Amino acid sequence: MSKLIVMPVDDPSATLLSTSDPAAIAADLGAVGVTFEQWTADATLAHDAGQDAVMSAYADDVARIRDMGFGTVDVVRLHGDPNDAEFMSNAAAARAKFLSEHAHADDEVRFFVEGSGAFYLRLTRPDGIEAVHVALCEQGDFISVPKDTLHWFDMGTAPSFAAIRFFQIEDGWVGEFTGDAIAERFPTFDELVAAAG
Ligand SMILES: [Fe+2]
Repeated sequence: MSKLIVMPVDDPSATLLSTSDPAAIAADLGAVGVTFEQWTADATLAHDAGQDAVMSAYADDVARIRDMGFGTVDVVRLHGDPNDAEFMSNAAAARAKFLSEHAHADDEVRFFVEGSGAFYLRLTRPDGIEAVHVALCEQGDFISVPKDTLHWFDMGTAPSFAAIRFFQIEDGWVGEFTGDAIAERFPTFDELVAAAG
């Protein structure tokens, strides 16, 4: 289930908000400039479905977002057997890439068509409190994080997700890392999933 958990930057043990209601998630994220929507993502993807197969399964959605000025589109898909050492090694490298706080010169726009992953967004709320907004995104979730937003992404130690990524700028995915260890102070994707039962 998609979920939003909001914690103050200076106190990861406190919870300002925790909700699984899609409308509440959209409203709260909308108030800090992040778009969250739930779309239909019910295509059955073959185990070995690659970029082209995923894009054609969601051709209408891809065309709609392209028309909004996102000229570059690709697919990131990670799933495999947790007992497969090669997969787990590749997964660890992929996970580590964006696990520290960073920002991009482009909006980070993702449509999750399989599995789940967590965005951690460091934003100042309308009441002035700086908080980490954890958006646990699942299949069907569309999220658009504005450029320059400080954030990180955790796909978990055994990733299983596919997301279509949209870019306005060719190299828009390149991260500018802040060097802040904030990510280490907040619960990981694995911990959040375990807590959600
Ligand atoms: Fe990012």
